[in-house]
Amino acid sequence: MAVDYDPSLDQLLVSPEIISDPYPIYHRLRAQDPVHWSDAWGCWVLTRYDDVVLALRDHRRFTNVGRIAAFLDQLPDDVRARIRPLYENFTTGMPNTDPPEHTRVRNLVNKAFTTRVVEGMRPRVQEIVNDLLDEAESGGTIEVIRDFAYPLPAIVIAETLGVPAEDRDQFKEWSDDIVAFHGTGRPHVETILKSTEALLETKEWLLELIEARRRQPQDDLISALVAAEERGDVLNETELVATCITLLTAGHETTTGLIGNGLLALLRNPDQLQMLRDNPDLIGTAVEEFLRFDTSFLRAWRLTAEDVEIGGQQVPKGQTLSLMLGAANRDPAKFEEPDRLDITREPNLHTSFGWGIHFCAGAPLARREAEIAFTTLLRRFPRIELDEAGVEWQQNNTFHNLKSLPIVVQ
Ligand code: HEM
Repeated sequence: MAVDYDPSLDQLLVSPEIISDPYPIYHRLRAQDPVHWSDAWGCWVLTRYDDVVLALRDHRRFTNVGRIAAFLDQLPDDVRARIRPLYENFTTGMPNTDPPEHTRVRNLVNKAFTTRVVEGMRPRVQEIVNDLLDEAESGGTIEVIRDFAYPLPAIVIAETLGVPAEDRDQFKEWSDDIVAFHGTGRPHVETILKSTEALLETKEWLLELIEARRRQPQDDLISALVAAEERGDVLNETELVATCITLLTAGHETTTGLIGNGLLALLRNPDQLQMLRDNPDLIGTAVEEFLRFDTSFLRAWRLTAEDVEIGGQQVPKGQTLSLMLGAANRDPAKFEEPDRLDITREPNLHTSFGWGIHFCAGAPLARREAEIAFTTLLRRFPRIELDEAGVEWQQNNTFHNLKSLPIVVQ
């Protein structure tokens, strides 16, 4: 059922309330206009579980190819000329290609994150968690984001790839700047120019690192990717650089968000917190529920590869769809009492890692990191209290991440 364009619904997408609690707005959109054309965002906004999953699964009709270019194409010519490197980077690599290019790179990366490989990383992740908590706990208070949820995934992915410890802070900054343009509804010139600058600096730094590994391979992922590039048939240099950048950026803010948003949800639901304390074996289903309840990555994008009908709406070829993962995860047609945190929820087929061929390559790693982080926090601190007044969200409509999450521990 198509409805007339409703400007008041569209205003909600750019309202301040959407930042801290997008779910009431998603519920309204899903109920009133589940395939909504947004002037504010310049794309279609899909909020029903079935529509979101259908688009994620059908890469032939809903493609990843050209989706970032379509977003950047909205900019004036002079700006577009200045951001060529951004175009180039975001037309290569897994998230921006479909088969066969996608399959080739993806098969390679999959090997680095199998459940077995990730299990082998467990002792090191535990060590990092312990060290961070030792450092963070001073005077009984912890700023969870700054001191724990943010550095943990950054250190893990940096070590996996083989980024030297002294370069870590720099790469975190670049990584934040590169992905920043994703968080704007329509392209924002200043943010995009900053993303481009960060990308160029990251590229230069990566090429040096790649050269060093070429001369002297180590036991890390960059060396494995370089070896694949040297075999010639698997990865070219542009893909190699784009893949490193994807890995450095994709698993960072998202995992920070899983830990931050999950802990916030748990502290705001003391019965669930107590249940997890009493039954630590529930950690597996609890992490899935944190992912569903308040995902840190609210939306994926696709372009229509042909004229399609979705959710009763006709969408012409070449248009951008925002697939609202956060909205799909709260769809009452799929999840009973979707606004309730239930750490025992099963089945829990949330969309937070996507679906289909682009399903998150780092999901096993993110799950393990979160399990170890929550289990250790709860074991170590018999009492954790939220400092509600200090809770602050980032201004972003793609990444739903906390800026600060202060807690008092005992
Ligand atoms: C809680 C943490 C994470 C969340 C919520 C998350 C979410 C997602 C989602 C939704 C997608 C699919 C996007 C789409 O279909 O357009 C995706 C793809 C991807 N993620 Fe994650 N991710 C997380 C952690 C990680 C980690 C730790 C890594 C790697 C170290 C990673 C690497 C990737 C890669 C490489 C892709 C692209 C896969 C492809 O296109 O085939 N992610 N992620």
